[in-house]
Amino acid sequence: MTGYTEPHDKSEQIAIANSAERMTVEKWMARFIVLESVAGIPGSVAGCLRHLRSLRRFRRDMAWIETLHDEAYNEKMHLLTFLKIAKPTLLTRVSIYALQIVFAFCFTLVYFLYPNICHRFVGYLEEEAVKTYTRCIDDMELGLTPDLSNLQVPQIAIDYWNLPIDANFYVLIQYIRADEAKHREVNHTFANLETRGNDRNPFALHIEAANVPQPSKTLENHRGVGWEREDLIL
Ligand SMILES: [Fe+2]
Ligand SMILES: [Fe+2]
Repeated sequence: MTGYTEPHDKSEQIAIANSAERMTVEKWMARFIVLESVAGIPGSVAGCLRHLRSLRRFRRDMAWIETLHDEAYNEKMHLLTFLKIAKPTLLTRVSIYALQIVFAFCFTLVYFLYPNICHRFVGYLEEEAVKTYTRCIDDMELGLTPDLSNLQVPQIAIDYWNLPIDANFYVLIQYIRADEAKHREVNHTFANLETRGNDRNPFALHIEAANVPQPSKTLENHRGVGWEREDLIL
């Protein structure tokens, strides 16, 4: 849909850059905008359903809602940043709109029944985002898309990530990839927890434990594949 071909290694990446499938600035932006417009849905749906469940059952949610809504807001900032750089065509907007309706409906339905499967799915979706941004960073390092490196970073991104005023697009993509890596860790961890039980969100409150590393809000002690339930102080 976005005209993106995933290379398996650097030599294939260079070969793609010299072929008709070459990634242009327009194709990168289309890929980012499609990915980000879908990525903002899960955190919002999951946060909303958990919020309603907490109200319905007169029970605490153990701090999951805030992290889920933070994720959705963060994804929306990714989208708004790219929209400042590129304006999607009417056809792209209509396709995204249709995709959002289908995805939001299916995700809501499945989250209601199988929340763990949904968090696992989002973990893999985030993995896909990490791979896309890594490939984008490699492309810029290899000088395959010079126009991309020269793009100006929008003010909205400088304010949101507290970037230096002269930050370039290469730096911006590294910040966004770090966000995606965090979403991947959080969602794979949530998938390992008892989503309907009393398990607390281990990312909301960092617990210092001697010789037992625990998750944090930052990339400290980062585990891309998520944390196993037995490794967590819950
Ligand atoms: Fe994102
Ligand atoms: Fe993400």
